[in-house]
Amino acid sequence: MKILAIETSCDETALALVEAGGGLRQPMFKVLKNLVSSQIAVHRPFGGVVPSIAKREHLKNLPIIFKKISGSSTSLGKLNFPKIDLIAVTVGPGLEPALWTGVNFAKELKKKIFPKIPLIGVNHLEGHLYSFLLTTRYKLQIKNTFPAIALIVSGGHTILLYVPSFTKWKKIGETRDDAAGEAFDKVAKMLNLPYPGGPEIQKLAAQGDGEAVKFPRPMIHDKNYDFSFSGLKTSVLYYLRDNPRTDKADIAASFQKAVVDVLVAKTIRAAKEYDTKSVILSGGVAANAFLRETLGNETRKINRNFLVPPMDFNTDNATMIAAAAYIQNLKRKRRAIRAQANLNL
Ligand code: KG4
Ligand code: ZN
Repeated sequence: MKILAIETSCDETALALVEAGGGLRQPMFKVLKNLVSSQIAVHRPFGGVVPSIAKREHLKNLPIIFKKISGSSTSLGKLNFPKIDLIAVTVGPGLEPALWTGVNFAKELKKKIFPKIPLIGVNHLEGHLYSFLLTTRYKLQIKNTFPAIALIVSGGHTILLYVPSFTKWKKIGETRDDAAGEAFDKVAKMLNLPYPGGPEIQKLAAQGDGEAVKFPRPMIHDKNYDFSFSGLKTSVLYYLRDNPRTDKADIAASFQKAVVDVLVAKTIRAAKEYDTKSVILSGGVAANAFLRETLGNETRKINRNFLVPPMDFNTDNATMIAAAAYIQNLKRKRRAIRAQANLNL
């Protein structure tokens, strides 16, 4: 089936056209079109995402991207759009004004162009969770995937999920304050690096020594699976105030190491305790090379599969929304068939 997906939960306006098939046993995806219009340059002067500006930019960009994806000359006019079977749109979690622009756009598309095509709402985090499926690399390993532990780390979220099967997940831990990506962005600001800070910290950290400053590893030994990054951020602030001459690259590397140490320790402990077959890493911070490498190595050490999306699918995009929509749709169909079977009994 062909899925048209829309994602506007934060500062990326994204549309994708994805061919999905294979069912729940072997879901497979072919990305036909993947368009992402980033608002980074617009938000950069403010040092973070401004919701009202995000909304304005989504409103401006959605018709432009749709024109591109549809090959049409007008935003909602005559189309030579390929036949689609499902429209999917992110409904949350995310910035409310930003989310609504996507939802309203999807409704308008359905009303004016695709009246017979079903429209479904998709959870943004499920999008991140299933984004590792957007590669053929894991095709043969699917049966060795579940139960899994998934670490979703983005600008808005840091959560650990226990994923017993393709269609179920349970949150076992989350951040009590800042998300990991948010901490990267805020520490970058302290180091006078531009927004978004994650990639900038990674670049600077590559020239520094991760052992130079012993920043705290918040909650690393706590028995639960929650995280907290606000105190770590404050430690960096005080360290910079008290040691202004320290090499910034050492600070970036030491901060990055502290975050990665906590994320990896808790994820590996969960993988052991829940006796999973794999560890899934996703979300914007999953683009961090040090995190990918460290978590990948530690996962392999305990003989679990390590599953991570290809680089282009870590930060927000609409292909992951299409993937989650496909799984959700299969789940819904399965439930309907079961209900039908019950009625026939
Ligand atoms: O998933 P995402 O695109 O948006 C949300 O759903 O929040 O994640 C964006 C976050 C930002 O905080 C950004 O700084 C972080 O991902 N990020 C990184 C890297 N690339 C993006 N953090 C650390 N290292 C990176 N290479
Ligand atoms: Zn996201």
